[in-house]
Amino acid sequence: MNAISSESLTKIYSDFVNKKLSVTALSDFTLDVEQGKIFGLLGPNGAGKTTFIKILLGLVNTTSGRASILGTQLPNVKIRKRIGYLPENHRYPNYLTGHQVMKLFGGLSGMRRAEIASRSASLLKLVGMEQWSKMKVKKYSKGMMQRLGLAQALINNPDVLFLDEPTDGVDPIGRKEIRDVLKQLRAEGKTIFLNSHLLSEVELISDQVAILNKGKLLKVGTVDELTTTDANYEIGVATHPTEAFFHEAAATVLKFQLDKSTISADLTSTAELNRLIDLLRKHNIEITHIAKKRTTLEESFINLIKPVSDEKKPEVRQ
Ligand SMILES: Nc1ncnc2c1ncn2[C@@H]1O[C@H](COP(=O)(O)OP(=O)(O)OP(=O)(O)O)[C@@H](O)[C@H]1O
Ligand SMILES: [Mg+2]
Repeated sequence: MNAISSESLTKIYSDFVNKKLSVTALSDFTLDVEQGKIFGLLGPNGAGKTTFIKILLGLVNTTSGRASILGTQLPNVKIRKRIGYLPENHRYPNYLTGHQVMKLFGGLSGMRRAEIASRSASLLKLVGMEQWSKMKVKKYSKGMMQRLGLAQALINNPDVLFLDEPTDGVDPIGRKEIRDVLKQLRAEGKTIFLNSHLLSEVELISDQVAILNKGKLLKVGTVDELTTTDANYEIGVATHPTEAFFHEAAATVLKFQLDKSTISADLTSTAELNRLIDLLRKHNIEITHIAKKRTTLEESFINLIKPVSDEKKPEVRQ
């Protein structure tokens, strides 16, 4: 059973006065998220990421399509007990302390007082906020607000956690701590669905990522799948290749460059890779390592988004 499943989901925010201002925020969006994984939804501003989360939470109605959480078809109020949510740019009443925020949300989740007290204490400790729990949130820094937000999203011990820009405004050490918390939650079997602009961040923790642009799914896969280039190899050599090697390589039309002790080869198949290795060995050139070159998630994101961005502005329904 998938933790989250959406089938041809479309959301049009209609403007009944000026139809030209209606926006297609999601278009035929189909996605499956496995249980117990960390899933990152990436996309530029206005791509439709928050809209997707809001549909799953029942905060926004769909125009067409279907979605389910843990096998329960949406909309369904009961499934909310198994969901945690950290909204983007969340705000809490200024006069509450961190602990009181936890009490408020525990109460809203229908939890008992004793349960709220013990869970609140352990969660505030988990996110490194125990010493600030009695301070009013109006005095909190941005990073402290995010940590409290994460603790609040976990108050009801949810199975599926939605985090909209969870590390927004958090410093590098804080981000690492939040990543560790998320990994710990995954180890407990929870599913974590996060929206983020911080691609290097997502790259470090996500089991799977999807790239969304202008409401359309461009790509979905593991970070490995999205960052591996088809056939670009790096071969380390201990001895400098001889003239004879270059001569023979040129004749076999293998494309590569030598930089000090590293050969960067632009090969179109593993057969070509093997030909190059055979050639190196034939000329007694010692190989120290062979690695497939990777792009960063940011590079593949930009490569995917750019051609679409060059077309025109967000899709507007006439
Ligand atoms: N309530 C609304 N009414 C009308 N249009 C909306 C509404 N909410 C969002 N939109 C539009 O839908 C599109 C998708 O917005 P959404 O907030 O889902 O994007 P996002 O990917 O979360 O962006 P960001 O990265 O900036 O948070 C945008 O063009 C936005 O202007
Ligand atoms: Mg958003």
